[in-house]
Amino acid sequence: MLTQESIKLSDYVEYPYLIPSIYLDFDIGSDYVVVESLMIIKPKSKESTELILQGNRIKLLSIEINGKELETEEYVISDKDLIIYSPPNSKFELKIKSQINPFKNTSLEGLYLSSGLLTTQCEAEGFRRICYHPDRPDVLSKYTVRVEAEKSIYPILLSNGNEKYSGDLKNNFHRHEIVWEDPFPKPSYLFALVAGKLNSILDTYITRSGRLIDIKIYVEAGDEKYTKHAINSLKKAMKWDEENYCLEYDLDEYKIVAVRHFNMGAMENKGLNIFNSKLVLSNSKTATDDELERIESVIAHEYFHNWTGNRITCRDWFQLSLKEGLTVFRDQSFTADLHSKGLKRIDDVSLLRNFQFAEDKGPTAHAVKPKEYVAIDNFYTTTIYEKGAELIRMLQLLLGKEKFFKGINLYIKSFDGTAATTEDFIHSLIRGAYSEEEKCPFEVTKFLNWYYMAGTPKVYINQSWDSKKSILNVSFEQEIDRDNNTENVEMIIPILYSCYSRNKGALPIVEDNLFVLDKNKKNLQINIPKGEKEPPVLSLFRRFSSPVVWESNSSTDDFLFLYLNDNDYFSRWDSGQSLMREIMRNKLRKKPDYLLEQSFIFAVKQSIKSLENNDRFFLAKLITIPGFSELESLFAKVDPINIYRESLNLQVLIGREILQELRKISDDLLLNINHEWPMGRGERKLLGTVWSYLTLAGDIKVQKKCVESISNSSMTIAKAALIALKPLGNNETEEASNLFYHIWRDNPIVLDSWFAYEASRPNSLGIQVIEKLLSHSKFDWKAPNSIRAVLGGFSQNIELFHSPNGHGYQYMAEKLIEVDKINPITASRMVKVFSKWKNYAEKYKEEMHKSILKINQANISSNTREVVELILQ
Ligand code: BES
Ligand code: ZN
Repeated sequence: MLTQESIKLSDYVEYPYLIPSIYLDFDIGSDYVVVESLMIIKPKSKESTELILQGNRIKLLSIEINGKELETEEYVISDKDLIIYSPPNSKFELKIKSQINPFKNTSLEGLYLSSGLLTTQCEAEGFRRICYHPDRPDVLSKYTVRVEAEKSIYPILLSNGNEKYSGDLKNNFHRHEIVWEDPFPKPSYLFALVAGKLNSILDTYITRSGRLIDIKIYVEAGDEKYTKHAINSLKKAMKWDEENYCLEYDLDEYKIVAVRHFNMGAMENKGLNIFNSKLVLSNSKTATDDELERIESVIAHEYFHNWTGNRITCRDWFQLSLKEGLTVFRDQSFTADLHSKGLKRIDDVSLLRNFQFAEDKGPTAHAVKPKEYVAIDNFYTTTIYEKGAELIRMLQLLLGKEKFFKGINLYIKSFDGTAATTEDFIHSLIRGAYSEEEKCPFEVTKFLNWYYMAGTPKVYINQSWDSKKSILNVSFEQEIDRDNNTENVEMIIPILYSCYSRNKGALPIVEDNLFVLDKNKKNLQINIPKGEKEPPVLSLFRRFSSPVVWESNSSTDDFLFLYLNDNDYFSRWDSGQSLMREIMRNKLRKKPDYLLEQSFIFAVKQSIKSLENNDRFFLAKLITIPGFSELESLFAKVDPINIYRESLNLQVLIGREILQELRKISDDLLLNINHEWPMGRGERKLLGTVWSYLTLAGDIKVQKKCVESISNSSMTIAKAALIALKPLGNNETEEASNLFYHIWRDNPIVLDSWFAYEASRPNSLGIQVIEKLLSHSKFDWKAPNSIRAVLGGFSQNIELFHSPNGHGYQYMAEKLIEVDKINPITASRMVKVFSKWKNYAEKYKEEMHKSILKINQANISSNTREVVELILQ
């Protein structure tokens, strides 16, 4: 049972006041910061209502309305709000002076210190740690911000918008001041302030309409050399948004600050993005290809928010996916356009299946538009983000690109400058897409079920071949997760399909078609060109056209055929994944299907032949086994240690059977890997994949090669080498890890990946290794990156974390209780390592349960309590 009160969507009421403008004054001292806010407030109605302002750890110094100090009986303060009983019933000025202490704030919310730098994080509810304010996204104001501070400690003072004034204080030349003005009304969660010693790297961008934008990246001295990639990424994103969505940047400058201590990846504050430094600072020496792509996409994501999130924001936090799902969809499309649509789709689907599907099956499952929550920070989930993006993708498929963009344009035009809801978005999208005479071909209310229902729908497919009529009859049935939803609802499930003839190979006999499953049961008749003797091969859910799980009566032969021939990257890859899942299922049930294993290996050999010289990236994906979390989801009683060992066995099996092919690839590729990102990426990816097989298959030469690569290669190859050596746990693993540490010990970002490596690799010493990492001189308890590296890495150290005596779980529980004391947001996210406890086999389950109870009994934050209680339910 949840012991804490929840916030409910059905309780939403408009805020009774408008706050058209806010003047904020920050006086930064050495022990605290004095914040003075002047808000222009207009009641929405004539009747006077209480004015409620949120506040968290703020010391009130004075409060006046229209220049007159309030009497103590005119207001009341508690530890969470300030209530003014009867404010004037027409426009007035509220001036509040207060004091905050950012120097003792370890939560990384509100104003806090990161390596001597004062910085903010206001989303979702951090602004109330800075000053008394409604702090809800539907209150939009124009902000003017003055900051003053000691010049020597805080030479750079930044806030949103454009600089209006800067200069030394007249009466104290040690101090200076700057005034920033943001002309666009915004919700408080987009407010930002940064003060400290930073160096800036300047660049410019000219928009499509010819406006000059100054780009400024702020980093610590010495890090300037790592900013080129971020700048290039930003410019690409600006151009892409102009070309695809006709959206231009609107301020004169775009600032990005990199900070070491940050709970999330990055934040889209208007005109002043704040980034976790690991998502800015990079080059091909320090970051892998995948990390460089990630950085490019996060820079783009935060940039895209300028329209989807900032210019149009969310009415309340129940609408979070309105900005996040849509913006993830936009960043996914951006990466797909820049690199490869097919490969990007495979990555996105893997992520969805490994994390979102797991979430949807577990105790923290929720709808994309939930109806209630306790702590909003716990709702920044893979469901809001990745499933949310899938819903937009389905709409794009259902409407077609042209209509989709018309719809988006209408949405943006209609809601610019306002706070919108998910329904506003959907309705205006449809209105923009279809003219009066045209009718939307699907029921929009049914589509909205995707937003309201938790759980992953299942689709059952049954095909039968009518050779006389040359028709393939396909019946579809949808089933919605009963655990989470009681009503009997129907979903709109778009299914892209095509058909192949077994004799004609890669040439489809029925090209891509869209079938919309909009009822519980529906049949489809596919006319197959005359002359086909054998039943055709049906390729379903091409491009992963909807986020569902499906089962069909396709045969192993069908999957093998598609694995070799399908012209859709996703479907071809997915056929291989299905086969590997089947192989793993049988292995774990102790009924290995040797015939299937051999046919699959034969198909792998053929794929290598056809792809090794032209599409190496894709080949790498085709021969990579499904992710661990996906494998876990195949079983009702999960035995993680068995799954881990069998997945290694499968790789050993495949590796040994194709040893010659792999060695040849490795030798060829070594000549061909030294280009700059994104060139040569496929070669590097394939080399890494091949190395993982070869080291496991016992190839000593490759193991040595891996060790060598740590010191003389790109980061991509160095990390591929570490990964390939990881399961071996031999001298080479040790040597490679030590080498890596010595090369990178002074780069905290790269060192975090070493921490993660050390924590996640098998070792014979047990928990002490984790203990040692946590007390390592380079380990920073206040940096979530480091905590996630060690504790997150530990949770992936399957044999250690899941050790049957339960010591791994207990240790994790103790550490999370400690983390929670300094940073509840990080702790409550990490507690989810215990989410799946009920799915585990008895011995693990019991031990896990004990550890969760231990956390539950501790004095924990409300954020962490919410997750723990959900998990226990
Ligand atoms: N608005 C979020 C950042 C955020 C989330 C701040 C939750 C505070 C609480 C930002 O736009 C975002 O979504 N960042 C992601 C990366 C993105 C590429 C998906 C993140 O930080 O992980
Ligand atoms: Zn976002």
